[in-house]
Amino acid sequence: MTADPALRVRGLEKSFKDVHVLRGVDFDVSPGSIFALLGSNGAGKTTLVRILATLLGADAGTAAVNGFDVAARPRDVRESISLTGQFAAVDGMLTGRENLVLVARLRHLEDPGATADELLDRFSLTDAGGRRASSYSGGMRRRLDIAMSLIGSPPIVFLDEPTTGLDPQSRLEVWQTIWQLAAGGTTVLLTTQYLDEAEQLADRIAILHEGRIIQNGTLAELRQLLPAAKAEYVQKQPSLEDVFLALVGDTAPAGKETR
Ligand SMILES: Nc1ncnc2c1ncn2[C@@H]1O[C@H](COP(=O)(O)OP(=O)(O)OP(=O)(O)O)[C@@H](O)[C@H]1O
Ligand SMILES: [Mg+2]
Repeated sequence: MTADPALRVRGLEKSFKDVHVLRGVDFDVSPGSIFALLGSNGAGKTTLVRILATLLGADAGTAAVNGFDVAARPRDVRESISLTGQFAAVDGMLTGRENLVLVARLRHLEDPGATADELLDRFSLTDAGGRRASSYSGGMRRRLDIAMSLIGSPPIVFLDEPTTGLDPQSRLEVWQTIWQLAAGGTTVLLTTQYLDEAEQLADRIAILHEGRIIQNGTLAELRQLLPAAKAEYVQKQPSLEDVFLALVGDTAPAGKETR
């Protein structure tokens, strides 16, 4: 690794009363890459993200975000990141464009209207920009939420379960957004419970289990953990999602490609 890591986590521990959630978490994330943190319900994914986003203090260990220690330099960390949680920050009473303008104003950008229009375009929301966000589909809301979190162009983006609760079509739209982000040089850490999501998106995948990262590698490296015959058998089968998308039609906006 030549460049300094965008994220560096060492020996991170966190307990809630007698529940020892994180028991020594270690990993690095390279700048401009997509890193997926996989784990079951309650594994500690959100806890880890909240520590990295300076919303929660660790009990032990260190974490550096964009080179800044989360405990010593929380302000610098916050200026380097955006965080999109499981529950969207979108105000349903406002239009999509108004939501974006509001955030751009809060961040003291020079031309909030232009920023909003640029983001609407980038997230294929231009046509819906004048409509109340409460009328949006789940995928449109999530895209708007991600767009809002990108105002000010943070180099590192945390997405906590960005597609939970979305239908396959909306999920694909969010995936396209994440690919675009990484293609533009943004570092993405996403948490997910979906193996296929990690498979599709991530340059590296880490599995958080019982408080530690038990595997961390590329998809190819993780595949080698399974017997070859089994992997071959699985690859020959179209997934349920393939079938669903073939039946309902893939109407993702133009100009987007799968990697
Ligand atoms: N503020 C808190 N107070 C007490 N316990 C907490 C708190 N936050 C999290 N926990 C506990 O820590 C554990 C890890 O929770 P966390 O939300 O980090 O898991 P997760 O991997 O994000 O799960 P999910 O997939 O359901 O989002 C759980 O047992 C949870 O109940
Ligand atoms: Mg969570």
